[in-house]
Amino acid sequence: MTFPSSMPASRLPDPMAAPALRWGVLGTGWIAERFTGSLRRNTRQQVVAVGSRSVGSARDFADRAGIGRAHGSYADLVADPEVDIVYVATPHNLHHGHALLALDAGKHVLVEKPIALNAVQATEIATRSAERGVYCAEALWTFYLPRYDVIRQLLDDGVLGEVRTVLADHGEWFPDTHRILRHDLAGGALLDLGTYPLALAAWVLGEPEQVVAIGQDVPGGEVHGQVSAVLRHAGGTQSAINTTIMADTPNRAVIAGTGATLVTDGPFFFPGGLTLTSAGKKSTIRYTEPAIGHEGLFVSAVEAARRVATGEAGTPLRPLAASVATLELVDEVRRQIGVTFLEESAPGVPR
Ligand SMILES: NC(=O)c1ccc[n+]([C@@H]2O[C@H](COP(=O)([O-])OP(=O)(O)OC[C@H]3O[C@@H](n4cnc5c(N)ncnc54)[C@H](OP(=O)(O)O)[C@@H]3O)[C@@H](O)[C@H]2O)c1
Repeated sequence: MTFPSSMPASRLPDPMAAPALRWGVLGTGWIAERFTGSLRRNTRQQVVAVGSRSVGSARDFADRAGIGRAHGSYADLVADPEVDIVYVATPHNLHHGHALLALDAGKHVLVEKPIALNAVQATEIATRSAERGVYCAEALWTFYLPRYDVIRQLLDDGVLGEVRTVLADHGEWFPDTHRILRHDLAGGALLDLGTYPLALAAWVLGEPEQVVAIGQDVPGGEVHGQVSAVLRHAGGTQSAINTTIMADTPNRAVIAGTGATLVTDGPFFFPGGLTLTSAGKKSTIRYTEPAIGHEGLFVSAVEAARRVATGEAGTPLRPLAASVATLELVDEVRRQIGVTFLEESAPGVPR
């Protein structure tokens, strides 16, 4: 294929054109605040209610964000008749219970990443959402970003030739007080950060046939601190990923094919540009989009709004089957490096 003279444009619709849903935010932490602000500033979506374990925290959040309804329990939030869709923004080990709580109340649901602790829990969420006939998706926002639609077009059009290799890392240093360092909240690098490069590798090359992983615990800590994994995909293609919570790394992704190599600007999981260089490095073309960081979080919400408006129960941008498959891969990596979460040894909890 001839190397193109320019990048394709994203085909994603204008976020302002997505019909408004009435959102209820479940949890009042770091991501809940950024998600709510991003919706308010960039979309027509209405955040009408928030639910917290304490009414004081719900009221504080509602006052800060200009939200009318503040509930002192998650059960009250999901029962609110003014709420169309619940955004689950609690720690990973609680996603399964909170997603089911919302689904059983008949609400659509958008669950922060990873959608659950393990593949068995994720499958149960997918089954329940199918039974209820409501929208359910994982808010792994990377795959809802305009630049990922551009990458998808480049891959589908064969511009990269045969893709041989994917390299991606997600590394970030965290202070000692962060929940990511707590075993009781399913901390460690893999769920919070590692799901991004693992999901990317499978999105480009298909689900892997083999994975070999090594891990290292946080020195003196209670969680795993970093993981490196190599994966073999169909036809012998390969990916290599690293994730760490002990240091900052470039957070880049490289997709390398026989015809061209694509490199992301900045963190590959954020909004930002792309550089495509032909094999032999004779030509380079660029795609640009504003590098707005978490201000871009609205993308999974407007996709939910578009799909709910047309009566769809999920999205091809991040199908539930892909969320389950990512956790199957994480489960296998955890098996190899010896990581088990507390809930997985408790009687009666799905594993
Ligand atoms: N997409 C992204 O870029 C991104 C970035 C960061 C995090 N995340 C995801 O968002 C989720 C939440 O992360 P976060 O950083 O926002 O966490 P956080 O700041 O600790 O907030 C979590 C919230 O969950 C609620 N919660 C319920 N039970 C809890 C418990 N036992 N311990 C602690 N909190 C509890 C709390 O709200 P109440 O007190 O109001 O009940 C708390 O404020 C995670 O799944 C994470 O992976 C995504």
